[in-house]
Amino acid sequence: MKRGITSGYIDIHSHILAEVDDGSRNMAMSMKMLDIAYKEGIRGIIATPHYHPVKSMNTYEEILEKFNEFKVAAKIIHPDMKLYLGREVLYTSDALEAIERGTKLTMEGDRYLLVEYSTITDYHYIRASINNILQAGLIPIIAHIERYECMVKNIEYVEELRDMGAVIQVNAASILGQGGRGVKSYTKKLLKNQYIDVVATDAHSDGNRAPRMDECAAYIEKKYGQEYTEDILIYNPERIIEGRYLEDLN
Ligand SMILES: [Fe+2]
Repeated sequence: MKRGITSGYIDIHSHILAEVDDGSRNMAMSMKMLDIAYKEGIRGIIATPHYHPVKSMNTYEEILEKFNEFKVAAKIIHPDMKLYLGREVLYTSDALEAIERGTKLTMEGDRYLLVEYSTITDYHYIRASINNILQAGLIPIIAHIERYECMVKNIEYVEELRDMGAVIQVNAASILGQGGRGVKSYTKKLLKNQYIDVVATDAHSDGNRAPRMDECAAYIEKKYGQEYTEDILIYNPERIIEGRYLEDLN
């Protein structure tokens, strides 16, 4: 594989930071997750703690402190792993107002916002929220699109949101069938149509929800080709980190 700003895959969605949400429980677990990610061929990670009224509402300053501690520890075991900071935001009008007031919730690069919804959210609500985010001058990345019922039932909605300017993220585990057969066949349809812009791990632990990527990458490459695989695992993540549009070609 060709390499860009890092020498491997870039995982844009990870709960690797300890004690900030329902992800890593402590620094030792974060280090184990880092080591797994490294062995999976990941060389860049955007840590994305939840911004969620139930799971975590830590301030940016609190998160940044944990991120800096993590970076120091990570450098000792994997100095060539590049680490970045982002957030996964449960979309509510309050979250958008917080952003407008200056709360930092964007991804590294400051152009993209990783958003999630509850699984039963109505399509019209999602569509309106995407519009609101774009109007606020940010590009929404929809986290794990395969989780939302309305999107699974109507694949054309995914196309509509992409046409509006949203970026579509799918979890690697879903592509490999860990979310069940229905989810797997849905991700197949997404891949076939090239509706997926980024694949990420959404890792939460060093166990069941570890940062696994390599098997998924090999599967996508075999079925859908090297170019598309590199786009969704390396180049689009890079563009996000650098705050560039996904259409930009070098
Ligand atoms: Fe997540």
